[in-house]
Amino acid sequence: MEIKKVGVVGCGIMGRGIVEVSAKAGFDVIVSEINQELLDKGIAGINASLTKAVEKGKVTEADKAATIGRIKGTTDTGSFKDCDLVIEAAIENLEVKKKVFIDLDKVCSKHAILASNTSCLSVTDLAAVTQRPDKVVGMHFFNPVSAMKLLELVKTIVVSDETIKAAESFGASIGKTAIIAPDIPGFIVNRVHSPYMLECIKLLEAGMATKEDIDRGMTLGYGFPMGPFALADMVGLDTIYFLCEAMYDELKDPKFTPPLLLKKMVTAGHLGRKTGKGFYDY
Ligand code: 3HC
Repeated sequence: MEIKKVGVVGCGIMGRGIVEVSAKAGFDVIVSEINQELLDKGIAGINASLTKAVEKGKVTEADKAATIGRIKGTTDTGSFKDCDLVIEAAIENLEVKKKVFIDLDKVCSKHAILASNTSCLSVTDLAAVTQRPDKVVGMHFFNPVSAMKLLELVKTIVVSDETIKAAESFGASIGKTAIIAPDIPGFIVNRVHSPYMLECIKLLEAGMATKEDIDRGMTLGYGFPMGPFALADMVGLDTIYFLCEAMYDELKDPKFTPPLLLKKMVTAGHLGRKTGKGFYDY
């Protein structure tokens, strides 16, 4: 199935990244937000990112203008009716996502693929609220979307091979390499990464090591581009907290228990770069 027009639900950090890379690759993209203010903020973010790319000499002014020209914003889900693929990047809340999928299923044409960018929630639960479970797939992108090459495709037991193939080929056309993950909490990447991240926070919480030393250890010793605390601040502490709580709820494995320090920081609104304060100050 050929994908020509792409819809993205949500213009937060991940949504706007997905919109940007898709429009840059030549796709017409419609992006929705729950109100005009959030939509304007998201589109302004995409504009700023493209301006930075022009300044760096990675994109020409003409390419920037063409990319922006392919993006249309909306607050009306009805606008997705002629999309071939709609990627949901709403907040990580299963009930909210289910509602989005029910609405998309009603509005979108029969052939359209519905994807979720969820980082850990059950894609099968989303497929089950639609009349097209064979066309529902997880498309998990990584932050920052423009820089990270991976697309984790989540394969449920009800999705068709044709849908997986179409999602993989769309990923390739926007410069991403796909891996196929099972529909289990955390899929592959977060399942492997979360215990590492939580262990680092637990070490800090116990006063065993400083965040600076842990970050330096993992960058210099293992060659990671960022240490766990710098990364947590970039991803958002609320996202990290939600991720491990959701995995713990489903698996009841103590290795996913959220550290108290993380919970307190989230409650205090210290969410990382986006609030100006996380493990580090910004
Ligand atoms: N937002 C958007 N784009 C950014 C960015 C940001 N915060 N930071 C960097 N970039 C882009 C730059 O624009 C640049 O793009 P370009 O190649 O098109 O010019 C590219 O990233 C490389 O940036 P720089 O050369 O300035 O910087 P670095 O070489 O230091 O790389 C990095 C920055 C790519 C962020 C690198 O430090 C890195 O790979 N960090 C690890 C990121 C990571 O682990 N991401 C996964 C997070 S987990 C996740 O998303 C899953 C979810 O489920 C929680």
